[in-house]
Amino acid sequence: MTAHSTITFPIPSAQDQTGLADALVLVTGGTRGLGRTISERLAGAAARVVCVARDVKHVDDMGIGAVPVIGCEPCDISNPEDVSVMIQRVENHFGPIDAMVCNAGIHLDGRFDRQSSWQWNQVIGTNLLGTANCLRAVLPGMRRRRSGRIVMVSSILGCRVMPGASSYCVSKAAINMLIRCTAAENGGSGIRINGVAPGYVETGMGREVENNIELHERVSRALVTQRFAHPHEVADCVSFLLSNQASYINGEIIEVSGGVHDFY
Ligand SMILES: NC(=O)c1ccc[n+]([C@@H]2O[C@H](COP(=O)([O-])OP(=O)(O)OC[C@H]3O[C@@H](n4cnc5c(N)ncnc54)[C@H](OP(=O)(O)O)[C@@H]3O)[C@@H](O)[C@H]2O)c1
Repeated sequence: MTAHSTITFPIPSAQDQTGLADALVLVTGGTRGLGRTISERLAGAAARVVCVARDVKHVDDMGIGAVPVIGCEPCDISNPEDVSVMIQRVENHFGPIDAMVCNAGIHLDGRFDRQSSWQWNQVIGTNLLGTANCLRAVLPGMRRRRSGRIVMVSSILGCRVMPGASSYCVSKAAINMLIRCTAAENGGSGIRINGVAPGYVETGMGREVENNIELHERVSRALVTQRFAHPHEVADCVSFLLSNQASYINGEIIEVSGGVHDFY
């Protein structure tokens, strides 16, 4: 940037504290688990939320048309063509996407040498490549409009070793770098890209850990706060990062783990 360059970021006014009211926000994996709480949190801030998942029947009781979400799109994010068609459908129907939460993710247990290549590819294909597919589809529009906000949901396992979760750890470590690289590439176009790295949350994948006695004990010993997170505690951080209150935060990954030691 030179001394003569013009400022491209919209600077939020004091009246517009969150900038979320009326914003069209796409939440992948917004139908259940953490993504669902994120969707509800954003809708509570008056954002127009559209959820994405392979199976959208989980949103039946979320009240489309009332609070909280305005739409739900069936899509497998690991399929780039599906994603590009879905983004076009959303933008044709609801208008330009102002913000996106890349939350959809899966976890398949297994040591590296015991996981099949199919299992490995499923995890990388959903968590990393699926997130990249969504970014690729929304970034051109955001760059044209010189405005956009993206939060990717990583994990504390993106920078910690958990034996038996190599594909998941690798996918989240790569997401961390994707956040930093894409934030650097797009910051000059008025787009902010950040991440949240939850520890263990009382939902979805967190419940699987709770049901595994040996793993649950190991994880619990590492948790400084001695409890799993409530999904609201992560959703609040996502909402903050999308809001104007985080207008000067870019390329950051905030850990929301209650503090955590190493696992072994
Ligand atoms: N829960 C935790 O303790 C924890 C901790 C750290 C990080 N995280 C991260 O938080 C995110 C959400 O986790 P969660 O525990 O809430 O999981 P979850 O309850 O299993 O929900 C996952 C969501 O992602 C969707 N999804 C999965 N694969 C998809 C695909 N290929 N295409 C489109 N949507 C897909 C699911 O819907 P369909 O199955 O219908 O597609 C569902 O809506 C994940 O990225 C996870 O890695 C969770």
